[in-house]
Amino acid sequence: MLNWDEYGKEENSAPPVTPEVKKETTAPKAEAQQSEPPQPAETAVPTKSSDISEGSRAAAAREAVKNLDETAGMEELDEMMANAGRVQVDQKMMINCKADLNQLVPFKYDWAWQKYLDGSANHWMPQEINMTNDIVLWKSEDGLTEDERVIVKRNLGFFSTADSLVANNLVLALYRLITNPECRQYILRQSLEEAIHTHAYQYCIESLGMDEGEIFNMYREIPCVARKASWGLKYTQEISDPDFKTGTEETDKQLLKNLIAFYCVLEGIFFYCGFTQILSMGRRNKMTGTAEQFQYILRDESMHVNFGIDVINQIKIENPHLWDDEMKSEAAQMILEGTELEIQYARDTMPRGVLGMNAAMMEEYLKFIANRRLTQLGLDEEFTGVSNPFPWMSEIIDLRKEKNFFETRVTEYQVGGALNWE
Ligand SMILES: [Fe+2]
Ligand SMILES: [Fe+2]
Repeated sequence: MLNWDEYGKEENSAPPVTPEVKKETTAPKAEAQQSEPPQPAETAVPTKSSDISEGSRAAAAREAVKNLDETAGMEELDEMMANAGRVQVDQKMMINCKADLNQLVPFKYDWAWQKYLDGSANHWMPQEINMTNDIVLWKSEDGLTEDERVIVKRNLGFFSTADSLVANNLVLALYRLITNPECRQYILRQSLEEAIHTHAYQYCIESLGMDEGEIFNMYREIPCVARKASWGLKYTQEISDPDFKTGTEETDKQLLKNLIAFYCVLEGIFFYCGFTQILSMGRRNKMTGTAEQFQYILRDESMHVNFGIDVINQIKIENPHLWDDEMKSEAAQMILEGTELEIQYARDTMPRGVLGMNAAMMEEYLKFIANRRLTQLGLDEEFTGVSNPFPWMSEIIDLRKEKNFFETRVTEYQVGGALNWE
């Protein structure tokens, strides 16, 4: 922990350097100088500002600061905001808010700030995970079956680009259109996490010595991967146009559809077959480094999904006219289309039983997940009689942590919290 009291202590407590000692300590430095960047020559410390000479650029900068119009930036801000000045909680809104977005507090959506704190407490980096056993297993002739190798490659192929699609949607579309500073703070945190996830996939791909061109192009070249990517992309095209504006029923609904597509379907359904397959591998003591990376990612992703669902539900509360019968049926249709695409992905990646599971079991699991996404949005379940064939997945996700604001609060996070691999 940094402490201001510690500053300067080291300098003050260092023994005085005699001229002889200084000679000895400076001599070897000449050798090291080659690898160090050149240091500016020592100059005498000026005692008065009049000792400093300056060029014409510094003089021009000083003149500009002297003549700075302090109202210029603020006037522009006031023009954009109907409610200029100190922000009151009840002026804050999820979309189309006219209050100053530079004022983080007072919080209206405490759950968004709490998720930002929880996400930050879960910070991790891919290099912290040991990949040695994975490399040995991947390179051995008979370490994995052909079906298991397909699963590793397909999932790294899908996820390595899917997280980029999600990150691009966040920073190029959503961030601008969500008009609430505490939610924007979480979106910034999530964007960093998406970059870490893409880093993790790249780290696996590089460690295992895979053909990077093949893996990173699967979202264009392998149909079951490409269909999922293009389904998501069509919901980001219009709203990532810099000229796109919310504020009409049509455009507000477009934003709502984007949120459902990315949070409920891409992150909330499209990730689940792959996560289950790779984590099942880890449970069987295969590709444990890769599986651990996925486990950390899954922990982040379940929070992303719940943040998105909270945002959608809050928009519904603030704009009930948007959540009409047409929108409800479109939302359900989107979730069911996503489920169908993920079932196809399961069949394609598991033509036979593998890792103690098969495509039929995955289909039931995905229908179980789809029911959950529907009810999280306040819609009726679609599939009756389905149960979770992979209860261990729920344990890994830890349903206590997966709950969103409208169900309960998240409380159990710690900085650098380690995962238990059971
Ligand atoms: Fe991610
Ligand atoms: Fe995510």
